[in-house]
Amino acid sequence: MSLFRNATASASGFALVALVCISTAFLEVTPAIAKAPEKAQPAILTASAIAVADKYSADAAEQIFKQGGNAVDAAVAIAFTLAVTYPEAGNIGGGGFMTLYVDGKPYFLDYRERAPLAATRNMYLDDKGEVIKGMSLFGYRAVGVPGTVDGMWQAQRRFGKLKWKQVLAPAIHYARDGFEVSEQLQERRDAAAKEFAGKTNFDTYFANLKQGVNFKQPDLAAVLQRISDQGAKDFYSGKTADLIAASMRGHGLITKADLQQYKAVWREPIQADWNGYRVYTAPPPSSGGIGLVQLLKMKADLAPDFKDVPLNSPQYVHLIAEIEKRVFADRAQYLGDPDFYKVPVAQLTSDAYIAKRAAEVNPSSPSDTKSVHVGLGTSMPEKAETTHFSVIDKWGNAVSNTYTINGYFGSGVVADRTGIVLNDEMDDFSAKPGVANMFGVVGSDANSIEPKKRPLSSMSPTILAKDGKVALVIGTPGGSRIFTSIFQVINNVYDYNMPLPAAVGAMRFHHQLLPPNTIFWEPYKPIDGELAQQIEAKGYTLKGQNFSGDIQAIKVNGDTPEAAADPRGRGVTRVIQ
Ligand code: GLY
Repeated sequence: MSLFRNATASASGFALVALVCISTAFLEVTPAIAKAPEKAQPAILTASAIAVADKYSADAAEQIFKQGGNAVDAAVAIAFTLAVTYPEAGNIGGGGFMTLYVDGKPYFLDYRERAPLAATRNMYLDDKGEVIKGMSLFGYRAVGVPGTVDGMWQAQRRFGKLKWKQVLAPAIHYARDGFEVSEQLQERRDAAAKEFAGKTNFDTYFANLKQGVNFKQPDLAAVLQRISDQGAKDFYSGKTADLIAASMRGHGLITKADLQQYKAVWREPIQADWNGYRVYTAPPPSSGGIGLVQLLKMKADLAPDFKDVPLNSPQYVHLIAEIEKRVFADRAQYLGDPDFYKVPVAQLTSDAYIAKRAAEVNPSSPSDTKSVHVGLGTSMPEKAETTHFSVIDKWGNAVSNTYTINGYFGSGVVADRTGIVLNDEMDDFSAKPGVANMFGVVGSDANSIEPKKRPLSSMSPTILAKDGKVALVIGTPGGSRIFTSIFQVINNVYDYNMPLPAAVGAMRFHHQLLPPNTIFWEPYKPIDGELAQQIEAKGYTLKGQNFSGDIQAIKVNGDTPEAAADPRGRGVTRVIQ
Protein backbone atom coordinates (compact mmCIF):
# COMPACT_ATOMS: atom_id res chain seq x y z
CA MET A 1 0.00 0.00 0.00
CA SER A 2 2.94 2.31 0.48
CA LEU A 3 3.22 2.53 -3.28
CA PHE A 4 0.09 4.57 -3.36
CA ARG A 5 0.91 6.91 -0.58
CA ASN A 6 2.52 9.47 -2.79
CA ALA A 7 -0.74 9.90 -4.64
CA THR A 8 -2.80 10.54 -1.55
CA ALA A 9 -2.70 13.14 1.13
CA SER A 10 -1.00 11.36 4.00
CA ALA A 11 -2.39 10.42 7.35
CA SER A 12 -0.30 13.19 8.76
CA GLY A 13 -0.86 15.60 5.95
CA PHE A 14 2.56 15.46 4.41
CA ALA A 15 3.20 17.33 1.22
CA LEU A 16 2.24 15.45 -1.88
CA VAL A 17 5.22 14.20 -3.81
CA ALA A 18 5.50 13.48 -7.48
CA LEU A 19 3.46 10.56 -8.67
CA VAL A 20 5.86 7.87 -9.78
CA CYS A 21 4.91 4.96 -12.02
CA ILE A 22 3.99 1.83 -10.14
CA SER A 23 5.82 -1.18 -11.42
CA THR A 24 3.87 -4.29 -12.31
CA ALA A 25 6.36 -6.36 -10.33
CA PHE A 26 5.56 -4.45 -7.20
CA LEU A 27 1.83 -4.68 -7.74
CA GLU A 28 2.12 -8.45 -7.68
CA VAL A 29 3.40 -8.41 -4.11
CA THR A 30 1.71 -5.34 -2.73
CA PRO A 31 -2.03 -5.22 -2.24
CA ALA A 32 -3.57 -2.32 -4.10
CA ILE A 33 -4.87 -0.50 -1.08
CA ALA A 34 -4.87 3.26 -1.36
CA LYS A 35 -5.16 5.19 1.89
CA ALA A 36 -8.01 7.65 2.06
CA PRO A 37 -6.82 11.23 2.28
CA GLU A 38 -6.73 12.38 5.88
CA LYS A 39 -6.63 15.71 7.63
CA ALA A 40 -3.40 17.62 7.22
CA GLN A 41 -1.13 17.61 10.25
CA PRO A 42 0.50 20.99 10.80
CA ALA A 43 4.24 21.26 11.29
CA ILE A 44 4.91 21.85 14.97
CA LEU A 45 8.70 22.10 14.82
CA THR A 46 10.93 24.49 12.93
CA ALA A 47 12.77 21.59 11.29
CA SER A 48 13.27 17.84 11.10
CA ALA A 49 16.45 16.41 12.65
CA ILE A 50 18.56 13.27 12.71
CA ALA A 51 21.46 11.84 14.67
CA VAL A 52 22.96 8.86 12.84
CA ALA A 53 26.06 6.70 12.77
CA ASP A 54 27.57 7.99 9.50
CA LYS A 55 27.40 10.72 6.88
CA TYR A 56 25.94 8.53 4.13
CA SER A 57 22.88 7.66 6.17
CA ALA A 58 22.55 11.35 7.05
CA ASP A 59 22.52 12.19 3.33
CA ALA A 60 19.92 9.47 2.75
CA ALA A 61 17.65 10.89 5.46
CA GLU A 62 18.02 14.40 4.13
CA GLN A 63 17.02 13.20 0.67
CA ILE A 64 13.93 11.50 2.10
CA PHE A 65 12.84 14.58 4.03
CA LYS A 66 13.30 16.70 0.91
CA GLN A 67 11.00 14.30 -0.96
CA GLY A 68 8.28 14.90 1.65
CA GLY A 69 8.93 11.80 3.74
CA ASN A 70 8.28 11.60 7.45
CA ALA A 71 10.41 10.30 10.33
CA VAL A 72 9.52 6.68 9.57
CA ASP A 73 10.46 7.00 5.89
CA ALA A 74 13.76 8.59 6.93
CA ALA A 75 14.39 5.88 9.53
CA VAL A 76 13.86 3.07 7.03
CA ALA A 77 16.13 4.78 4.49
CA ILE A 78 18.79 5.19 7.21
CA ALA A 79 18.54 1.55 8.24
CA PHE A 80 19.00 0.23 4.69
CA THR A 81 21.82 2.70 4.00
CA LEU A 82 23.74 1.74 7.15
CA ALA A 83 23.48 -1.91 6.02
CA VAL A 84 25.71 -0.81 3.13
CA THR A 85 27.93 1.97 4.49
CA TYR A 86 28.21 0.85 8.14
CA PRO A 87 28.50 -2.89 7.55
CA GLU A 88 30.09 -3.58 10.92
CA ALA A 89 26.70 -3.05 12.63
CA GLY A 90 24.14 -1.64 10.18
CA ASN A 91 22.39 -4.59 8.63
CA ILE A 92 19.75 -6.54 6.85
CA GLY A 93 21.19 -9.77 8.28
CA GLY A 94 20.35 -8.99 11.91
CA GLY A 95 17.53 -7.50 13.91
CA GLY A 96 16.54 -4.77 16.29
CA PHE A 97 13.96 -2.63 17.99
CA MET A 98 12.14 0.53 16.93
CA THR A 99 10.35 2.85 19.33
CA LEU A 100 8.08 5.25 17.47
CA TYR A 101 5.95 8.25 18.34
CA VAL A 102 3.53 8.96 15.51
CA ASP A 103 0.61 11.38 15.53
CA GLY A 104 0.92 11.69 19.31
CA LYS A 105 0.92 7.94 20.04
CA PRO A 106 3.75 5.59 21.06
CA TYR A 107 4.49 2.29 19.29
CA PHE A 108 7.17 -0.37 19.55
CA LEU A 109 8.29 -2.77 16.85
CA ASP A 110 10.27 -5.90 17.77
CA TYR A 111 12.20 -7.22 14.79
CA ARG A 112 14.72 -9.12 16.87
CA GLU A 113 16.23 -12.29 15.38
CA ARG A 114 14.75 -15.65 16.40
CA ALA A 115 16.37 -19.01 17.07
CA PRO A 116 16.06 -21.36 14.07
CA LEU A 117 13.47 -24.15 14.19
CA ALA A 118 16.26 -26.72 14.60
CA ALA A 119 17.85 -24.90 17.56
CA THR A 120 18.12 -26.82 20.80
CA ARG A 121 18.77 -25.86 24.40
CA ASN A 122 22.20 -27.53 24.47
CA MET A 123 23.36 -26.74 20.94
CA TYR A 124 26.51 -24.98 22.14
CA LEU A 125 27.51 -27.63 24.72
CA ASP A 126 29.96 -30.49 24.25
CA ASP A 127 29.27 -34.05 25.40
CA LYS A 128 30.50 -33.14 28.86
CA GLY A 129 27.95 -30.37 29.05
CA GLU A 130 30.56 -27.62 28.73
CA VAL A 131 30.10 -24.58 26.50
CA ILE A 132 32.08 -24.89 23.26
CA LYS A 133 34.03 -21.65 23.11
CA GLY A 134 33.26 -19.38 20.18
CA MET A 135 30.53 -21.57 18.70
CA SER A 136 27.77 -19.02 19.40
CA LEU A 137 30.01 -16.16 18.23
CA PHE A 138 31.55 -17.19 14.91
CA GLY A 139 30.33 -19.04 11.87
CA TYR A 140 27.05 -20.39 10.59
CA ARG A 141 25.72 -21.93 13.80
CA ALA A 142 25.87 -18.55 15.57
CA VAL A 143 23.25 -17.05 13.26
CA GLY A 144 19.69 -16.21 14.33
CA VAL A 145 16.88 -15.76 11.78
CA PRO A 146 17.21 -12.12 10.64
CA GLY A 147 14.36 -9.66 11.29
CA THR A 148 15.51 -6.30 9.95
CA VAL A 149 13.89 -6.47 6.52
CA ASP A 150 10.48 -7.44 7.92
CA GLY A 151 10.86 -4.77 10.61
CA MET A 152 11.52 -2.04 8.07
CA TRP A 153 8.73 -3.33 5.84
CA GLN A 154 6.20 -3.35 8.72
CA ALA A 155 7.20 0.12 9.92
CA GLN A 156 7.16 1.76 6.51
CA ARG A 157 3.91 0.12 5.44
CA ARG A 158 2.18 1.20 8.61
CA PHE A 159 3.48 4.74 8.98
CA GLY A 160 5.60 5.78 6.00
CA LYS A 161 4.37 8.29 3.46
CA LEU A 162 6.70 7.70 0.54
CA LYS A 163 6.91 4.77 -1.79
CA TRP A 164 8.90 1.77 -0.59
CA LYS A 165 11.16 2.21 -3.60
CA GLN A 166 12.03 5.73 -2.57
CA VAL A 167 13.31 4.68 0.85
CA LEU A 168 15.44 1.89 -0.66
CA ALA A 169 16.97 4.11 -3.35
CA PRO A 170 19.85 5.63 -1.33
CA ALA A 171 21.03 2.21 -0.08
CA ILE A 172 20.94 0.75 -3.58
CA HIS A 173 22.98 3.70 -4.83
CA TYR A 174 25.72 3.23 -2.20
CA ALA A 175 25.86 -0.53 -2.74
CA ARG A 176 25.99 -0.29 -6.53
CA ASP A 177 28.13 2.84 -7.00
CA GLY A 178 30.18 2.57 -3.81
CA PHE A 179 31.09 4.82 -0.90
CA GLU A 180 34.40 6.01 0.48
CA VAL A 181 35.64 3.85 3.36
CA SER A 182 36.50 5.72 6.58
CA GLU A 183 39.51 5.06 8.79
CA GLN A 184 37.29 3.76 11.60
CA LEU A 185 35.53 1.28 9.30
CA GLN A 186 38.86 -0.08 8.06
CA GLU A 187 40.12 -0.45 11.64
CA ARG A 188 37.02 -2.41 12.56
CA ARG A 189 37.33 -4.55 9.44
CA ASP A 190 40.97 -5.32 10.23
CA ALA A 191 40.13 -6.34 13.80
CA ALA A 192 37.23 -8.51 12.62
CA ALA A 193 39.29 -10.13 9.87
CA LYS A 194 41.78 -11.33 12.49
CA GLU A 195 39.01 -12.85 14.61
CA PHE A 196 37.31 -14.55 11.67
CA ALA A 197 40.50 -15.77 9.94
CA GLY A 198 40.17 -19.44 9.03
CA LYS A 199 36.68 -19.62 10.52
CA THR A 200 34.39 -17.84 8.06
CA ASN A 201 34.19 -16.48 4.49
CA PHE A 202 34.45 -12.86 5.74
CA ASP A 203 37.43 -11.91 3.57
CA THR A 204 35.76 -13.06 0.36
CA TYR A 205 33.60 -9.95 0.64
CA PHE A 206 35.56 -7.55 2.82
CA ALA A 207 39.26 -8.01 1.97
CA ASN A 208 39.18 -4.80 -0.11
CA LEU A 209 37.51 -2.61 2.50
CA LYS A 210 40.37 -0.11 2.86
CA GLN A 211 40.37 3.49 3.98
CA GLY A 212 39.85 5.90 1.08
CA VAL A 213 38.75 3.17 -1.34
CA ASN A 214 35.41 3.45 -3.13
CA PHE A 215 33.86 0.19 -1.90
CA LYS A 216 31.16 -1.36 -4.08
CA GLN A 217 28.91 -4.30 -3.14
CA PRO A 218 27.21 -5.54 -6.33
CA ASP A 219 25.69 -8.67 -4.72
CA LEU A 220 24.16 -6.58 -1.95
CA ALA A 221 22.94 -4.03 -4.51
CA ALA A 222 21.11 -6.84 -6.33
CA VAL A 223 19.49 -8.01 -3.07
CA LEU A 224 18.40 -4.47 -2.19
CA GLN A 225 17.04 -3.98 -5.69
CA ARG A 226 14.93 -7.14 -5.32
CA ILE A 227 13.70 -5.98 -1.91
CA SER A 228 12.85 -2.64 -3.50
CA ASP A 229 10.94 -4.33 -6.32
CA GLN A 230 9.28 -7.13 -4.37
CA GLY A 231 9.16 -5.95 -0.74
CA ALA A 232 10.13 -8.07 2.27
CA LYS A 233 8.77 -11.11 0.46
CA ASP A 234 12.00 -11.46 -1.52
CA PHE A 235 14.05 -11.76 1.67
CA TYR A 236 11.74 -14.24 3.42
CA SER A 237 10.43 -16.42 0.61
CA GLY A 238 11.97 -15.28 -2.67
CA LYS A 239 15.36 -15.49 -4.32
CA THR A 240 17.20 -13.94 -1.38
CA ALA A 241 15.64 -16.50 0.97
CA ASP A 242 16.82 -19.26 -1.38
CA LEU A 243 20.36 -17.88 -1.41
CA ILE A 244 20.53 -17.57 2.39
CA ALA A 245 19.16 -21.10 2.84
CA ALA A 246 21.62 -22.45 0.25
CA SER A 247 24.53 -20.76 2.09
CA MET A 248 23.45 -22.35 5.33
CA ARG A 249 22.94 -25.84 3.99
CA GLY A 250 25.48 -28.23 5.48
CA HIS A 251 26.87 -25.50 7.77
CA GLY A 252 24.15 -23.85 9.85
CA LEU A 253 20.58 -24.33 10.99
CA ILE A 254 18.57 -21.71 9.13
CA THR A 255 16.32 -23.07 6.39
CA LYS A 256 13.85 -21.46 4.06
CA ALA A 257 11.07 -22.46 6.48
CA ASP A 258 12.76 -20.36 9.17
CA LEU A 259 12.73 -17.35 6.90
CA GLN A 260 9.16 -17.95 5.73
CA GLN A 261 7.91 -18.13 9.32
CA TYR A 262 9.71 -15.03 10.58
CA LYS A 263 7.49 -12.13 11.67
CA ALA A 264 8.30 -8.83 13.32
CA VAL A 265 5.97 -8.10 16.26
CA TRP A 266 4.27 -4.88 17.36
CA ARG A 267 4.45 -4.75 21.16
CA GLU A 268 3.41 -2.33 23.86
CA PRO A 269 6.38 -0.14 24.73
CA ILE A 270 7.42 0.11 28.37
CA GLN A 271 5.92 3.36 29.65
CA ALA A 272 6.72 5.22 32.84
CA ASP A 273 6.30 8.66 34.33
CA TRP A 274 9.55 10.22 35.43
CA ASN A 275 10.40 13.78 36.37
CA GLY A 276 7.45 15.26 34.47
CA TYR A 277 8.19 13.20 31.34
CA ARG A 278 6.55 10.12 29.89
CA VAL A 279 9.26 7.57 29.07
CA TYR A 280 8.64 5.17 26.14
CA THR A 281 11.21 2.45 25.81
CA ALA A 282 11.90 -1.16 24.90
CA PRO A 283 9.90 -4.02 26.48
CA PRO A 284 11.10 -7.64 26.63
CA PRO A 285 12.77 -9.34 24.82
CA SER A 286 14.87 -6.33 25.72
CA SER A 287 16.02 -6.00 29.28
CA GLY A 288 16.97 -2.40 28.55
CA GLY A 289 13.65 -0.62 28.98
CA ILE A 290 12.95 -2.21 32.35
CA GLY A 291 16.54 -1.50 33.38
CA LEU A 292 16.32 2.13 32.27
CA VAL A 293 13.07 2.75 34.16
CA GLN A 294 14.48 1.10 37.29
CA LEU A 295 17.62 3.25 37.07
CA LEU A 296 15.73 6.51 36.54
CA LYS A 297 13.17 5.86 39.27
CA MET A 298 15.58 4.43 41.82
CA LYS A 299 17.76 7.51 41.46
CA ALA A 300 14.69 9.74 41.88
CA ASP A 301 13.75 7.78 45.02
CA LEU A 302 17.25 8.43 46.37
CA ALA A 303 17.12 12.19 45.74
CA PRO A 304 18.01 13.00 49.37
CA ASP A 305 21.17 10.87 49.05
CA PHE A 306 22.14 12.60 45.79
CA LYS A 307 21.55 16.12 47.19
CA ASP A 308 24.70 18.21 46.67
CA VAL A 309 26.58 15.19 45.27
CA PRO A 310 28.56 16.46 42.25
CA LEU A 311 28.09 14.62 38.95
CA ASN A 312 30.66 11.84 38.46
CA SER A 313 32.23 12.41 41.88
CA PRO A 314 33.31 9.32 43.88
CA GLN A 315 30.08 9.40 45.92
CA TYR A 316 28.01 9.74 42.75
CA VAL A 317 29.78 6.76 41.18
CA HIS A 318 29.17 4.74 44.34
CA LEU A 319 25.45 5.55 44.52
CA ILE A 320 24.89 4.76 40.85
CA ALA A 321 26.82 1.47 41.20
CA GLU A 322 24.58 0.53 44.13
CA ILE A 323 21.51 1.12 41.95
CA GLU A 324 23.02 -0.77 39.01
CA LYS A 325 23.77 -3.75 41.25
CA ARG A 326 20.09 -4.21 41.89
CA VAL A 327 19.00 -3.60 38.32
CA PHE A 328 21.40 -6.24 36.99
CA ALA A 329 20.37 -8.78 39.61
CA ASP A 330 16.80 -8.49 38.32
CA ARG A 331 17.93 -8.60 34.71
CA ALA A 332 19.60 -11.97 35.05
CA GLN A 333 16.79 -13.56 37.01
CA TYR A 334 13.61 -12.46 35.34
CA LEU A 335 14.11 -11.50 31.73
CA GLY A 336 13.64 -13.35 28.45
CA ASP A 337 11.37 -13.54 25.41
CA PRO A 338 7.82 -12.68 26.62
CA ASP A 339 6.35 -15.06 24.02
CA PHE A 340 8.01 -17.94 25.92
CA TYR A 341 8.40 -16.74 29.47
CA LYS A 342 6.11 -14.62 31.61
CA VAL A 343 8.25 -11.59 32.38
CA PRO A 344 6.91 -9.73 35.44
CA VAL A 345 7.15 -6.33 33.73
CA ALA A 346 4.51 -4.57 35.85
CA GLN A 347 6.11 -5.68 39.11
CA LEU A 348 9.66 -4.87 38.05
CA THR A 349 8.70 -1.33 37.00
CA SER A 350 6.21 -0.62 39.79
CA ASP A 351 6.91 2.36 42.03
CA ALA A 352 6.52 0.22 45.16
CA TYR A 353 9.03 -2.42 44.04
CA ILE A 354 11.57 0.15 42.86
CA ALA A 355 11.22 2.10 46.15
CA LYS A 356 11.86 -1.14 48.04
CA ARG A 357 15.01 -1.80 46.01
CA ALA A 358 16.12 1.84 46.47
CA ALA A 359 15.75 1.45 50.23
CA GLU A 360 18.29 -1.40 50.11
CA VAL A 361 20.99 0.90 48.71
CA ASN A 362 23.85 1.44 51.13
CA PRO A 363 24.75 5.14 50.88
CA SER A 364 28.18 4.81 52.41
CA SER A 365 29.83 1.64 51.09
CA PRO A 366 29.29 -1.11 48.50
CA SER A 367 26.61 -3.63 49.48
CA ASP A 368 27.75 -7.22 49.64
CA THR A 369 27.26 -8.54 46.09
CA LYS A 370 25.83 -11.87 47.31
CA SER A 371 23.16 -10.11 49.32
CA VAL A 372 21.90 -8.37 46.17
CA HIS A 373 21.79 -11.55 44.09
CA VAL A 374 18.20 -12.27 43.32
CA GLY A 375 19.43 -14.68 40.77
CA LEU A 376 22.54 -14.74 38.69
CA GLY A 377 24.77 -11.94 37.62
CA THR A 378 27.07 -10.80 34.90
CA SER A 379 30.79 -11.18 34.79
CA MET A 380 32.54 -10.78 31.47
CA PRO A 381 33.49 -7.72 29.46
CA GLU A 382 31.33 -6.55 26.64
CA LYS A 383 31.94 -5.22 23.16
CA ALA A 384 30.63 -1.82 22.10
CA GLU A 385 28.80 -2.90 18.98
CA THR A 386 25.31 -2.56 17.43
CA THR A 387 24.20 0.86 16.12
CA HIS A 388 21.49 3.40 16.89
CA PHE A 389 19.85 6.33 15.12
CA SER A 390 17.36 8.97 16.22
CA VAL A 391 14.97 10.84 13.94
CA ILE A 392 12.29 13.50 14.39
CA ASP A 393 10.24 15.21 11.69
CA LYS A 394 8.77 18.69 11.70
CA TRP A 395 5.32 17.23 12.38
CA GLY A 396 6.60 15.94 15.72
CA ASN A 397 6.81 12.24 14.80
CA ALA A 398 9.91 10.45 16.07
CA VAL A 399 11.77 7.18 15.60
CA SER A 400 14.35 5.79 17.97
CA ASN A 401 15.93 2.71 16.39
CA THR A 402 18.64 0.36 17.61
CA TYR A 403 19.59 -2.64 15.49
CA THR A 404 22.42 -5.10 15.48
CA ILE A 405 24.26 -8.08 14.13
CA ASN A 406 25.71 -8.43 17.66
CA GLY A 407 29.52 -8.28 17.35
CA TYR A 408 31.09 -6.11 14.65
CA PHE A 409 30.41 -7.94 11.36
CA GLY A 410 28.25 -10.41 13.27
CA SER A 411 29.14 -14.07 12.85
CA GLY A 412 31.65 -13.19 10.10
CA VAL A 413 29.55 -15.22 7.67
CA VAL A 414 28.44 -13.49 4.48
CA ALA A 415 25.62 -15.34 2.74
CA ASP A 416 26.98 -16.40 -0.67
CA ARG A 417 25.97 -14.28 -3.67
CA THR A 418 24.15 -11.78 -1.43
CA GLY A 419 26.77 -9.71 0.42
CA ILE A 420 24.52 -10.02 3.50
CA VAL A 421 26.53 -10.10 6.72
CA LEU A 422 24.81 -12.54 9.06
CA ASN A 423 24.47 -11.92 12.79
CA ASP A 424 25.79 -13.87 15.77
CA GLU A 425 22.77 -13.06 17.90
CA MET A 426 22.50 -16.64 19.21
CA ASP A 427 25.22 -15.60 21.66
CA ASP A 428 22.64 -13.44 23.46
CA PHE A 429 20.91 -16.60 24.71
CA SER A 430 22.29 -18.29 27.78
CA ALA A 431 24.04 -21.28 26.25
CA LYS A 432 24.11 -22.79 29.71
CA PRO A 433 22.59 -21.09 32.74
CA GLY A 434 25.45 -19.76 34.81
CA VAL A 435 27.89 -19.22 31.91
CA ALA A 436 28.46 -15.70 30.61
CA ASN A 437 27.93 -14.74 26.96
CA MET A 438 30.02 -12.22 24.98
CA PHE A 439 28.45 -9.38 26.93
CA GLY A 440 29.22 -10.96 30.28
CA VAL A 441 25.58 -11.79 30.72
CA VAL A 442 24.77 -14.92 32.65
CA GLY A 443 21.19 -15.92 32.16
CA SER A 444 18.59 -18.12 33.75
CA ASP A 445 16.04 -20.41 32.08
CA ALA A 446 14.09 -17.33 31.01
CA ASN A 447 16.71 -16.91 28.32
CA SER A 448 17.50 -20.52 27.42
CA ILE A 449 17.55 -21.53 23.74
CA GLU A 450 14.27 -22.71 22.16
CA PRO A 451 13.17 -22.80 18.52
CA LYS A 452 11.63 -19.47 17.38
CA LYS A 453 12.57 -17.77 20.66
CA ARG A 454 14.18 -14.32 20.65
CA PRO A 455 17.37 -13.93 22.68
CA LEU A 456 17.39 -11.40 25.49
CA SER A 457 18.71 -8.00 24.43
CA SER A 458 19.75 -4.77 26.08
CA MET A 459 18.88 -2.50 23.16
CA SER A 460 16.79 0.38 24.49
CA PRO A 461 15.64 2.83 21.83
CA THR A 462 13.91 5.45 23.96
CA ILE A 463 11.65 8.48 23.53
CA LEU A 464 10.71 10.96 26.25
CA ALA A 465 7.58 13.06 25.78
CA LYS A 466 6.18 15.98 27.72
CA ASP A 467 2.58 17.16 27.40
CA GLY A 468 2.10 14.77 24.47
CA LYS A 469 5.07 16.10 22.50
CA VAL A 470 8.44 14.49 21.91
CA ALA A 471 11.14 15.94 24.18
CA LEU A 472 14.07 13.55 23.66
CA VAL A 473 14.93 10.72 21.27
CA ILE A 474 17.91 8.66 22.39
CA GLY A 475 19.76 5.35 22.12
CA THR A 476 23.17 3.76 21.76
CA PRO A 477 25.02 0.52 21.06
CA GLY A 478 26.90 -1.17 23.91
CA GLY A 479 25.24 -4.47 24.91
CA SER A 480 24.52 -4.42 28.63
CA ARG A 481 26.07 -0.91 28.77
CA ILE A 482 23.26 0.42 26.59
CA PHE A 483 20.75 1.34 29.24
CA THR A 484 23.31 2.48 31.81
CA SER A 485 24.73 4.82 29.13
CA ILE A 486 21.31 6.18 28.13
CA PHE A 487 20.47 6.64 31.80
CA GLN A 488 23.63 8.68 32.38
CA VAL A 489 22.97 10.99 29.43
CA ILE A 490 19.31 11.54 30.45
CA ASN A 491 20.51 12.25 33.95
CA ASN A 492 23.18 14.68 32.69
CA VAL A 493 20.56 16.58 30.69
CA TYR A 494 17.65 16.70 33.12
CA ASP A 495 19.16 16.36 36.60
CA TYR A 496 22.40 18.23 35.94
CA ASN A 497 21.13 20.65 33.24
CA MET A 498 23.97 19.97 30.83
CA PRO A 499 23.65 21.06 27.20
CA LEU A 500 22.95 18.02 25.00
CA PRO A 501 26.40 17.75 23.31
CA ALA A 502 28.17 18.01 26.68
CA ALA A 503 25.79 15.46 28.20
CA VAL A 504 26.53 13.02 25.37
CA GLY A 505 30.29 13.60 25.51
CA ALA A 506 30.57 13.43 29.32
CA MET A 507 32.34 10.67 31.24
CA ARG A 508 30.41 7.38 31.46
CA PHE A 509 30.96 4.39 33.69
CA HIS A 510 29.26 1.05 34.24
CA HIS A 511 28.70 -1.55 36.93
CA GLN A 512 26.74 -4.79 36.40
CA LEU A 513 26.78 -6.71 39.71
CA LEU A 514 29.55 -9.05 38.59
CA PRO A 515 32.52 -8.95 38.76
CA PRO A 516 31.89 -7.82 42.34
CA ASN A 517 32.31 -4.11 42.99
CA THR A 518 33.94 -3.47 39.63
CA ILE A 519 33.43 -0.13 37.90
CA PHE A 520 34.17 -0.10 34.17
CA TRP A 521 35.35 3.11 32.54
CA GLU A 522 35.86 3.84 28.85
CA PRO A 523 38.80 5.34 26.95
CA TYR A 524 37.16 8.53 25.69
CA LYS A 525 36.90 9.90 29.27
CA PRO A 526 39.03 7.62 31.45
CA ILE A 527 38.65 7.45 35.22
CA ASP A 528 42.16 8.08 36.48
CA GLY A 529 44.23 10.17 38.91
CA GLU A 530 42.65 11.37 42.12
CA LEU A 531 39.12 10.37 41.06
CA ALA A 532 40.30 6.81 40.52
CA GLN A 533 42.05 6.73 43.91
CA GLN A 534 38.96 7.99 45.70
CA ILE A 535 36.68 5.45 44.02
CA GLU A 536 39.12 2.66 44.86
CA ALA A 537 39.23 3.88 48.45
CA LYS A 538 35.47 3.25 48.60
CA GLY A 539 36.10 -0.44 47.91
CA TYR A 540 35.76 -0.61 44.12
CA THR A 541 38.06 -2.05 41.47
CA LEU A 542 38.38 0.05 38.32
CA LYS A 543 38.69 -1.53 34.89
CA GLY A 544 39.18 0.21 31.56
CA GLN A 545 37.17 -1.25 28.74
CA ASN A 546 36.49 -0.31 25.15
CA PHE A 547 32.72 0.02 25.49
CA SER A 548 32.59 3.64 24.40
CA GLY A 549 29.05 3.52 23.07
CA ASP A 550 27.78 5.78 20.31
CA ILE A 551 24.85 7.80 21.63
CA GLN A 552 22.66 9.45 18.99
CA ALA A 553 20.25 11.90 20.56
CA ILE A 554 17.76 14.62 19.62
CA LYS A 555 16.34 17.06 22.16
CA VAL A 556 13.47 19.39 21.41
CA ASN A 557 13.92 22.89 22.86
CA GLY A 558 10.59 24.68 22.52
CA ASP A 559 9.80 24.11 18.85
CA THR A 560 13.38 23.57 17.71
CA PRO A 561 15.15 20.21 17.57
CA GLU A 562 18.79 19.94 18.54
CA ALA A 563 20.78 16.82 17.67
CA ALA A 564 23.98 15.40 19.12
CA ALA A 565 26.10 12.53 17.83
CA ASP A 566 28.54 10.92 20.21
CA PRO A 567 32.08 12.25 19.72
CA ARG A 568 33.23 8.67 20.34
CA GLY A 569 31.97 7.50 16.92
CA ARG A 570 31.72 8.73 13.33
CA GLY A 571 28.16 9.91 13.82
CA VAL A 572 26.61 12.87 12.06
CA THR A 573 23.72 15.18 12.90
CA ARG A 574 21.56 17.26 10.60
CA VAL A 575 18.78 19.72 11.21
CA ILE A 576 16.76 19.86 8.00
CA GLN A 577 14.48 22.81 7.26
N1 GLY B 1 23.33 -7.91 20.81
C1 GLY B 1 23.26 -6.82 21.70
C2 GLY B 1 21.92 -6.63 22.29
O1 GLY B 1 20.96 -7.11 21.72
O2 GLY B 1 21.78 -6.02 23.31
